[in-house]
Amino acid sequence: MSESLSQSGACNQPSACNQPSACKQPSASRDTLLKVSELTHQVNLGSDTLTILQGVNFEIKRGESVAIVGRSGSGKTTLLGLMAGLDSPSQGRIELDGEAISELDEDQRARLRAHRVGFVFQSFQLLPALSALENVMLPLELAGHQAPAEQARDLLHRVGLGERLLHTPRQLSGGEQQRVAIARAFASNPSVLFADEPTGNLDTHTGRTISELLMALNQEQGTTLILVTHDDQLASRCQRRFAIEAGRVQEFEGAL
Ligand SMILES: Nc1ncnc2c1ncn2[C@@H]1O[C@H](COP(=O)(O)OP(=O)(O)OP(=O)(O)O)[C@@H](O)[C@H]1O
Ligand SMILES: [Mg+2]
Repeated sequence: MSESLSQSGACNQPSACNQPSACKQPSASRDTLLKVSELTHQVNLGSDTLTILQGVNFEIKRGESVAIVGRSGSGKTTLLGLMAGLDSPSQGRIELDGEAISELDEDQRARLRAHRVGFVFQSFQLLPALSALENVMLPLELAGHQAPAEQARDLLHRVGLGERLLHTPRQLSGGEQQRVAIARAFASNPSVLFADEPTGNLDTHTGRTISELLMALNQEQGTTLILVTHDDQLASRCQRRFAIEAGRVQEFEGAL
């Protein structure tokens, strides 16, 4: 277990402390954005059960950037979806921002996602009939934002698409669509952004631009960034790296 995994931010010697009011250590609950405990996920295949994740434990702190790597079919998208509250686990507990999302029903998870979670899908998943501006405005409108158009315009300027506001997804390149998806994911100012292979469908140059953008937003806004990637350079820019193999998740140091 690496040092950062073992340190949850809690004081190592609480019982030995005789000056609690002078303690500078943040509490584990305030510092921890995501806590995954004994997570197991299985799917039913008729007569058989497929175990995708088994006995997974880890914690991620606020503001961290984390890359998840692993072979195709190892369970990366499954894990991301569970952490984001898109699905609920077969067993175990997931706490996001102090809330046990594994214990919420679908409607409650949807409400939590709308306020605290941004998700960038590999296939962008923009609404084809809406312009870039309208796609980014949508989550702002749903959240009851006062000035959705202004905020969406601002975000699109930030991702370099100020000249493409009225283009529909079909009128945008792959990299531009991915940037709209990132602007949309950041629109609700989420505590955490999940991104599933955000550079997977892009050429090397555009992929670099997207990586820069994600890292800049992580640093400037303090948004916790959890991404799945096959891109060594993007993984190495993250503060922490986890590998999934045979249903287990392990943190590792250094390159892939
Ligand atoms: N609903 C489901 N029913 C049956 N099998 C599933 C289901 N969801 C996922 N799987 C299987 O679970 C495994 C993990 O899927 P997942 O999509 O998480 O992999 P991944 O690591 O994201 O792969 P890739 O790198 O190809 O995107 C795969 O073998 C997949 O076929
Ligand atoms: Mg996947």
